Amino acid sequence: MKFNTKTIHGGQQHDPAYGSVMPPIYQTSTYAQTTPGGHKGFEYSRTHNPTRKALEDSFASIENGKFGLAFGSGLAAIDAVVKLLQPGDEVISTNDLYGGTYRLFTKIFEGFGIKFHFIGMENADKISDYVNENTKLIWVETPTNPMMNIIDIKAVAAVSKKHNLLLAVDNTFATPYLQRPLDLGADIVMHSATKYLGGHSDVVMGALIVKDSELAERLYFIQNASGAVCGPQDSFLVLRGIKTLHIRMQRHCENGEAIAKYLQNHPKIEKVYWPGFEDHPNHEIAKSQMDGFGGMISFVTKGNDYDQAIKIVEKLKIFTLAESLGGVESLAGHPASMTHASIPKQEREKTGVVDSLIRLSVGIEDVDDLIADLEQAIG
Ligand SMILES: Cc1ncc(COP(=O)(O)O)c(C=O)c1O
Repeated sequence: MKFNTKTIHGGQQHDPAYGSVMPPIYQTSTYAQTTPGGHKGFEYSRTHNPTRKALEDSFASIENGKFGLAFGSGLAAIDAVVKLLQPGDEVISTNDLYGGTYRLFTKIFEGFGIKFHFIGMENADKISDYVNENTKLIWVETPTNPMMNIIDIKAVAAVSKKHNLLLAVDNTFATPYLQRPLDLGADIVMHSATKYLGGHSDVVMGALIVKDSELAERLYFIQNASGAVCGPQDSFLVLRGIKTLHIRMQRHCENGEAIAKYLQNHPKIEKVYWPGFEDHPNHEIAKSQMDGFGGMISFVTKGNDYDQAIKIVEKLKIFTLAESLGGVESLAGHPASMTHASIPKQEREKTGVVDSLIRLSVGIEDVDDLIADLEQAIG
């Protein structure tokens, strides 16, 4: 099956009870047993639920994995990955990453004795300098949030294989429509399914996808033992969202390109971060590992004025000023005061998250309306 077909049919079966084309929302916590242990494969909905199972099979299919796991949020999915580790273990992570991931790593897991090294991974060879006998996991986000850096997944996978480490890739920004990390050598793909997979800004959810059955067993154990699962209603909504992922992503990419080019030519804009530009430092890698450049764009205004950036985001009318991304509607955010406020100013500025940085999640509206909105807000 090719990708567009997989978004609709991958891992799906018509419901055996009445042949319903969409899986029913099995709104139940438990399942009748004829004798202790005599059930039809489902005994308690923290462990398994048929609607969640249909979604998890869809996750596995679209990412070219074998096993999918759905969680109550993207952070719950990341939490499950780090729980594969023990106190004393070390993680090498990209330094330009979602602020909540940074907060989970530093404020929760460092307290449990796990050590994190945050480094730039544009040059994968540098990673080996941080590997020692305690290193267990490499954490990659690409494109990075919000600076749109691109990390060469194949090159990082070569390092992880050489040192026998796990490689996890947060594929939230690209989605499997644009990039399939398991095919490039990653062991675990993670998503905030809240974003493009759900696609309609109505659900908070996380996903993990793996190929290896032993790794899957360990993660299913953590999913059940820690219990951060999503409910059947949310599973249904994300499954429905995935069915249009390919056509939404196509439009996100088209609109993203038009807006990136508009901003690049704007006299009041200093710099636009979008991997589709030929002068983007990792453009060639983006071209080789992605099938398009997506709808996420960041930009900095001339003069790097905090108040001016705030004024712009306040003036936007079609773009909504809001946290999050990846929905059908366009959103704008100010990372320094919103998504990345949990990262100390000194740390965030090292990666380019300066005071005037604005991040856009370009939606699938008419692009002329989006450009007119930016025009009136930037002035
Ligand atoms: C790249 C990335 N990873 C992970 C997360 C966390 O996901 P969630 O908000 O679903 O917990 C986010 C949320 O914005 C994100 O942007």
